Amino acid sequence: MFIAANWKMNLDKVSISKFCDDLYNYKFSSKVEACIFPPMPYIDYLNNLIKDLPISIGGQNCHYKLFGAFTGEVSPKFLLDTGCEYVIIGHSERRTFNNESDNEIKLRAQSAINANLKVILCLGESLFNREKGYALEFIEKQLLECLPDDFRNVQVAYEPVWSIGTGKIPNVSDIKEMHDHIKKVVFKKTKKKVKVLYGGSVNVDNIGQILSVINVDGVLVGGSSLKVKDFLAIYSAAVKHLNNSI
Ligand code: PGA
Repeated sequence: MFIAANWKMNLDKVSISKFCDDLYNYKFSSKVEACIFPPMPYIDYLNNLIKDLPISIGGQNCHYKLFGAFTGEVSPKFLLDTGCEYVIIGHSERRTFNNESDNEIKLRAQSAINANLKVILCLGESLFNREKGYALEFIEKQLLECLPDDFRNVQVAYEPVWSIGTGKIPNVSDIKEMHDHIKKVVFKKTKKKVKVLYGGSVNVDNIGQILSVINVDGVLVGGSSLKVKDFLAIYSAAVKHLNNSI
């Protein structure tokens, strides 16, 4: 079970320090892995604050080249060098605001894998595609276009674009259907099993419902990961869910 906290462009040094104070009073479980994706300039700072805790750190994106004249970009090598274990690739906000295409996302994912980072590859359909009944087809195409050829150390995050930051989530049968589909498509193409996280408006109130879906392997949490109380409540819900399902 994996809980990913995507802080996006939020939390400064003072708020990160306060967030971490509360983490030290919490008893983490070996069954649930947590990873925080802070703003890039604070990776090193956060890493120092949580070095004694079982929480990993990830980058919110990386470039497909290791070095070069790419102003404003970050190399997967630099993420690794500053202590990152994971990187998010293909988040819908990068696709929308930075025009990242499926092909570019595939290159970024491959470069991250080659640099020994673990990849969270994000996919998601628009409300239009969901309402028209094209969601499965759309995600299959997006997945196949983004899948790195050398497929290892990748988890997929299914994040319907219409669910991100809106408070709306798909019903449990739609989540189950989509996660099944993603797992089947990946297996058919690579002969490997993949873990699929759900992302989009995950919060303290709906986490139980989301984790009750049998093929949800974890969650990617944005807004609700910014307050330490909510982040830990979501983490605790995951521990409780695993304990109850034994
Ligand atoms: P949200 O964001 O939880 O605020 O909807 C999730 C994400 O974009 O990863």
